[in-house]
This record gives sequence, structure tokens and C-alpha cells, in this order.
Amino acid sequence: MVKDFPQVITIDGPAGAGKSTVARELALRLGVFYLDTGAMYRALTLKAIRSGMNLEDASGLVGLARGTRIRLENHNGGAKVLLDGEDVSDAIRSPEVTNKTFYIARTGGVREIMVGWQREIGARQSIVIEGRDVGTVVFPKATHKFYLDADFEERARRRIKELREKGKQIDEDSLKTELKDRDHKDLTRSIGPLKIADDAVVIDTTHMTVNGTVDEILKHIKNKA
Ligand code: DC
Repeated sequence: MVKDFPQVITIDGPAGAGKSTVARELALRLGVFYLDTGAMYRALTLKAIRSGMNLEDASGLVGLARGTRIRLENHNGGAKVLLDGEDVSDAIRSPEVTNKTFYIARTGGVREIMVGWQREIGARQSIVIEGRDVGTVVFPKATHKFYLDADFEERARRRIKELREKGKQIDEDSLKTELKDRDHKDLTRSIGPLKIADDAVVIDTTHMTVNGTVDEILKHIKNKA
């Protein structure tokens, strides 16, 4: 199904649409590399917060990105994020990082660097890549493109469940407000906004399971092969 040359399968969509779980499972089933682009934006945000720099300073952020090494590793269906060699897989999921990543994501110069890193990884091997702009900007010629969506209430419910399972205390109303705010920022960013690629297959996962969604994606891939 995945041929000899590097093939790219892109999955875009808003937060909570099921991208990460689906992309991870899909990559595992196909035996290809799973690339979480959001983890790159989050890792650089963590570094910027730790260094105490001004997040409004675009050229400072570009300089920071240039001097940073972000490495993503796959381990038995899980993914590890290394920031300058340090494992930050958990640290990048904190609410502070989640809510401040937009500063990094809206900075054009930083996006250029991130996109370059993502293309390099995709040139070396077949990948399932997930994010907001991966089918539109990063790999506009990808072999297979998908856009996952779900109703707002369902996306919020999934986020709440995920955080509760990690033992986090959640205020449902503020989580919904933050999710709405993140949707708005993702959709209205002038560079690399969340957008459905013209040639993407749109899947509404509101009433679907992870495995059901992966099966549906595999069906499309097989039909096109
Ligand atoms: O997928 P995620 O929630 O981990 O992504 C975190 C943030 O990173 C998201 O709110 C927007 C940004 N992002 C982006 O701008 N472009 C991508 N390709 C992936 C994520």
C-alpha cells in the first residue's frame, strides 16, 4: 500500500478532532513514521517561555528557532519529543504552552523554519504527518490528504476526557473558551492558517471511533493506490 518511494499522508484539522490518535494508529498500521507538527511549535514555545523572552518579538523568535534542535522519535506507537536533547514530551502539553503556542505559530519566519524541518523528514521516509497546514503548505503535493473535523461540543468533551485521564483538574467552561479561542487563532492566522486543502478527503469524526476513522482513511488510500 505504501510504495517504495517516500509517501506522505497528511492529516489536518482543528484541536480535538482526533488527529493525533488517528495519525499515530495509522502510521503504526502502515509501518511509517508519525510526525506531529504541533509538537514542534509547542517545543519551541516551551523554550521561549523558559528563556523569559518577549513572545511578541518576532525576530527574537526566529533567532531562537535557528538555534534550536527539535527531534521527534517514534517508540512502539508512542512519540517522544526532544528539545535540544531533553525529553519534553510531557512538558509541552501543559496549559501554559497550549495557550501560548499561537505566538510561535503566527510568526512567519518561524513557520518557514518548521516547514523546512518537516519537509526534510518527509523526504527521507514515508510519513503520516498531522497539523493545521500540512496538506496546504508543507506538502501540497502529498499522495493522500485528509481533513478531520468534529462538532465543537464533541471536541471539547474529548479534550476534557484526555486531561482528566492524565489526572488534571479541569474547569469545563474555561476549557471551552480556550478551545474556541484556539480555533479562532488557527483559522484567522495570516500565514499557514487551518484550511481544507482542495483535494483533501474530509471526515467528520463526531460519531466515529479511532479504529473506525483509521479504517475509513485506509479505504481511501487503497482506492486511490
Ligand atoms: O496540534 P496541537 O494542538 O498540538 O498544536 C498546537 C498548536 O500549534 C496549534 O494551536 C497551532 C499550532 N500548529 C500550527 O500552527 N501548525 C501546525 N502545522 C501544527 C500546529
